[in-house]
Amino acid sequence: MSRFTDKVVWITGASSGIGEALVHAFAVEGAKLVISARRKEELERVQIASGLNHQNSLILPLDLSDTKNINDLTQQIINKFGRIDILVNNGGISQRALTKDTSLDIDRQIMEVNFFGTVAITKSVLPYMLKQKSGHIIAMSSIAGKFGFYFRSAYSASKHALHGFFESLRMEIYNDNVKVLVVCPGKIKTNISVNAVTGSGGKHAIMDQSTNEGLSAEECAKQILKAIKANEEEIFIGGKELKAIWIKRFFPKLFSKMIRRQKPE
Ligand SMILES: NC(=O)c1ccc[n+]([C@@H]2O[C@H](COP(=O)([O-])OP(=O)(O)OC[C@H]3O[C@@H](n4cnc5c(N)ncnc54)[C@H](OP(=O)(O)O)[C@@H]3O)[C@@H](O)[C@H]2O)c1
Repeated sequence: MSRFTDKVVWITGASSGIGEALVHAFAVEGAKLVISARRKEELERVQIASGLNHQNSLILPLDLSDTKNINDLTQQIINKFGRIDILVNNGGISQRALTKDTSLDIDRQIMEVNFFGTVAITKSVLPYMLKQKSGHIIAMSSIAGKFGFYFRSAYSASKHALHGFFESLRMEIYNDNVKVLVVCPGKIKTNISVNAVTGSGGKHAIMDQSTNEGLSAEECAKQILKAIKANEEEIFIGGKELKAIWIKRFFPKLFSKMIRRQKPE
């Protein structure tokens, strides 16, 4: 028996990258999985690849930029499994464009997917967790949720916003036994830069060198499960890029000079 055996885990952004690796990791531990993203066929692929079936998993396609029917989706999970134990708000989109070249519509789109989509799902699930008097909510931030970087003004803003939201929520629901974990990955080898949006809404379609050299999504998922088990509140996952967080905290002026000299990609 694992801590996650028979737990009902809803993962957004489950069709690729870190989300897909999380589906595998939770499936191995015997959890019941609800997997969401826009691409249904990719979710079906992940379901099969993770050895899941229609008894122990549910595919719920959704677009984080349009969550008006989110309560219907949550109800479908309750109808099938009766509860939701863990919500992993992992779905998200990055940006590769200078602020001056990013239209306000794209700024709003990134906020809608990364921030408001996450908030909408969380608010939809929260009443059930409060009623159960148990639950765990995970928010996927980034090191860009701790400091800004070239080409990521809206992305970084959306991830910073998650910290304010989930830190407030964490204290509000502490006595209801509902936990909040904020995850800040550094460089993880996924298609995040390939799928990133340009300033006019096109696809960046380039694999960043640093992302390509990053930690595997599987290792990232492993560290997230470990952090949930340990009831961590905030974790950083990655390699030497994580040093920037500590340098900013203790030497903000030095940080400002150093980060400016980093290769913008
Ligand atoms: N890889 C990194 O280095 C890194 C670093 C820090 C933080 N992160 C964060 O980790 C999370 C997962 O990213 P990843 O690295 O695994 O990249 P990825 O492979 O591009 O995965 C992104 C996931 O989000 C889903 N998604 C994107 N837009 C969506 C929308 N409008 N509605 C619903 N789902 C949507 C995608 O599925 P569909 O396209 O099928 O909708 C996909 O499953 C993101 O929140 C990202 O910001 C990644």
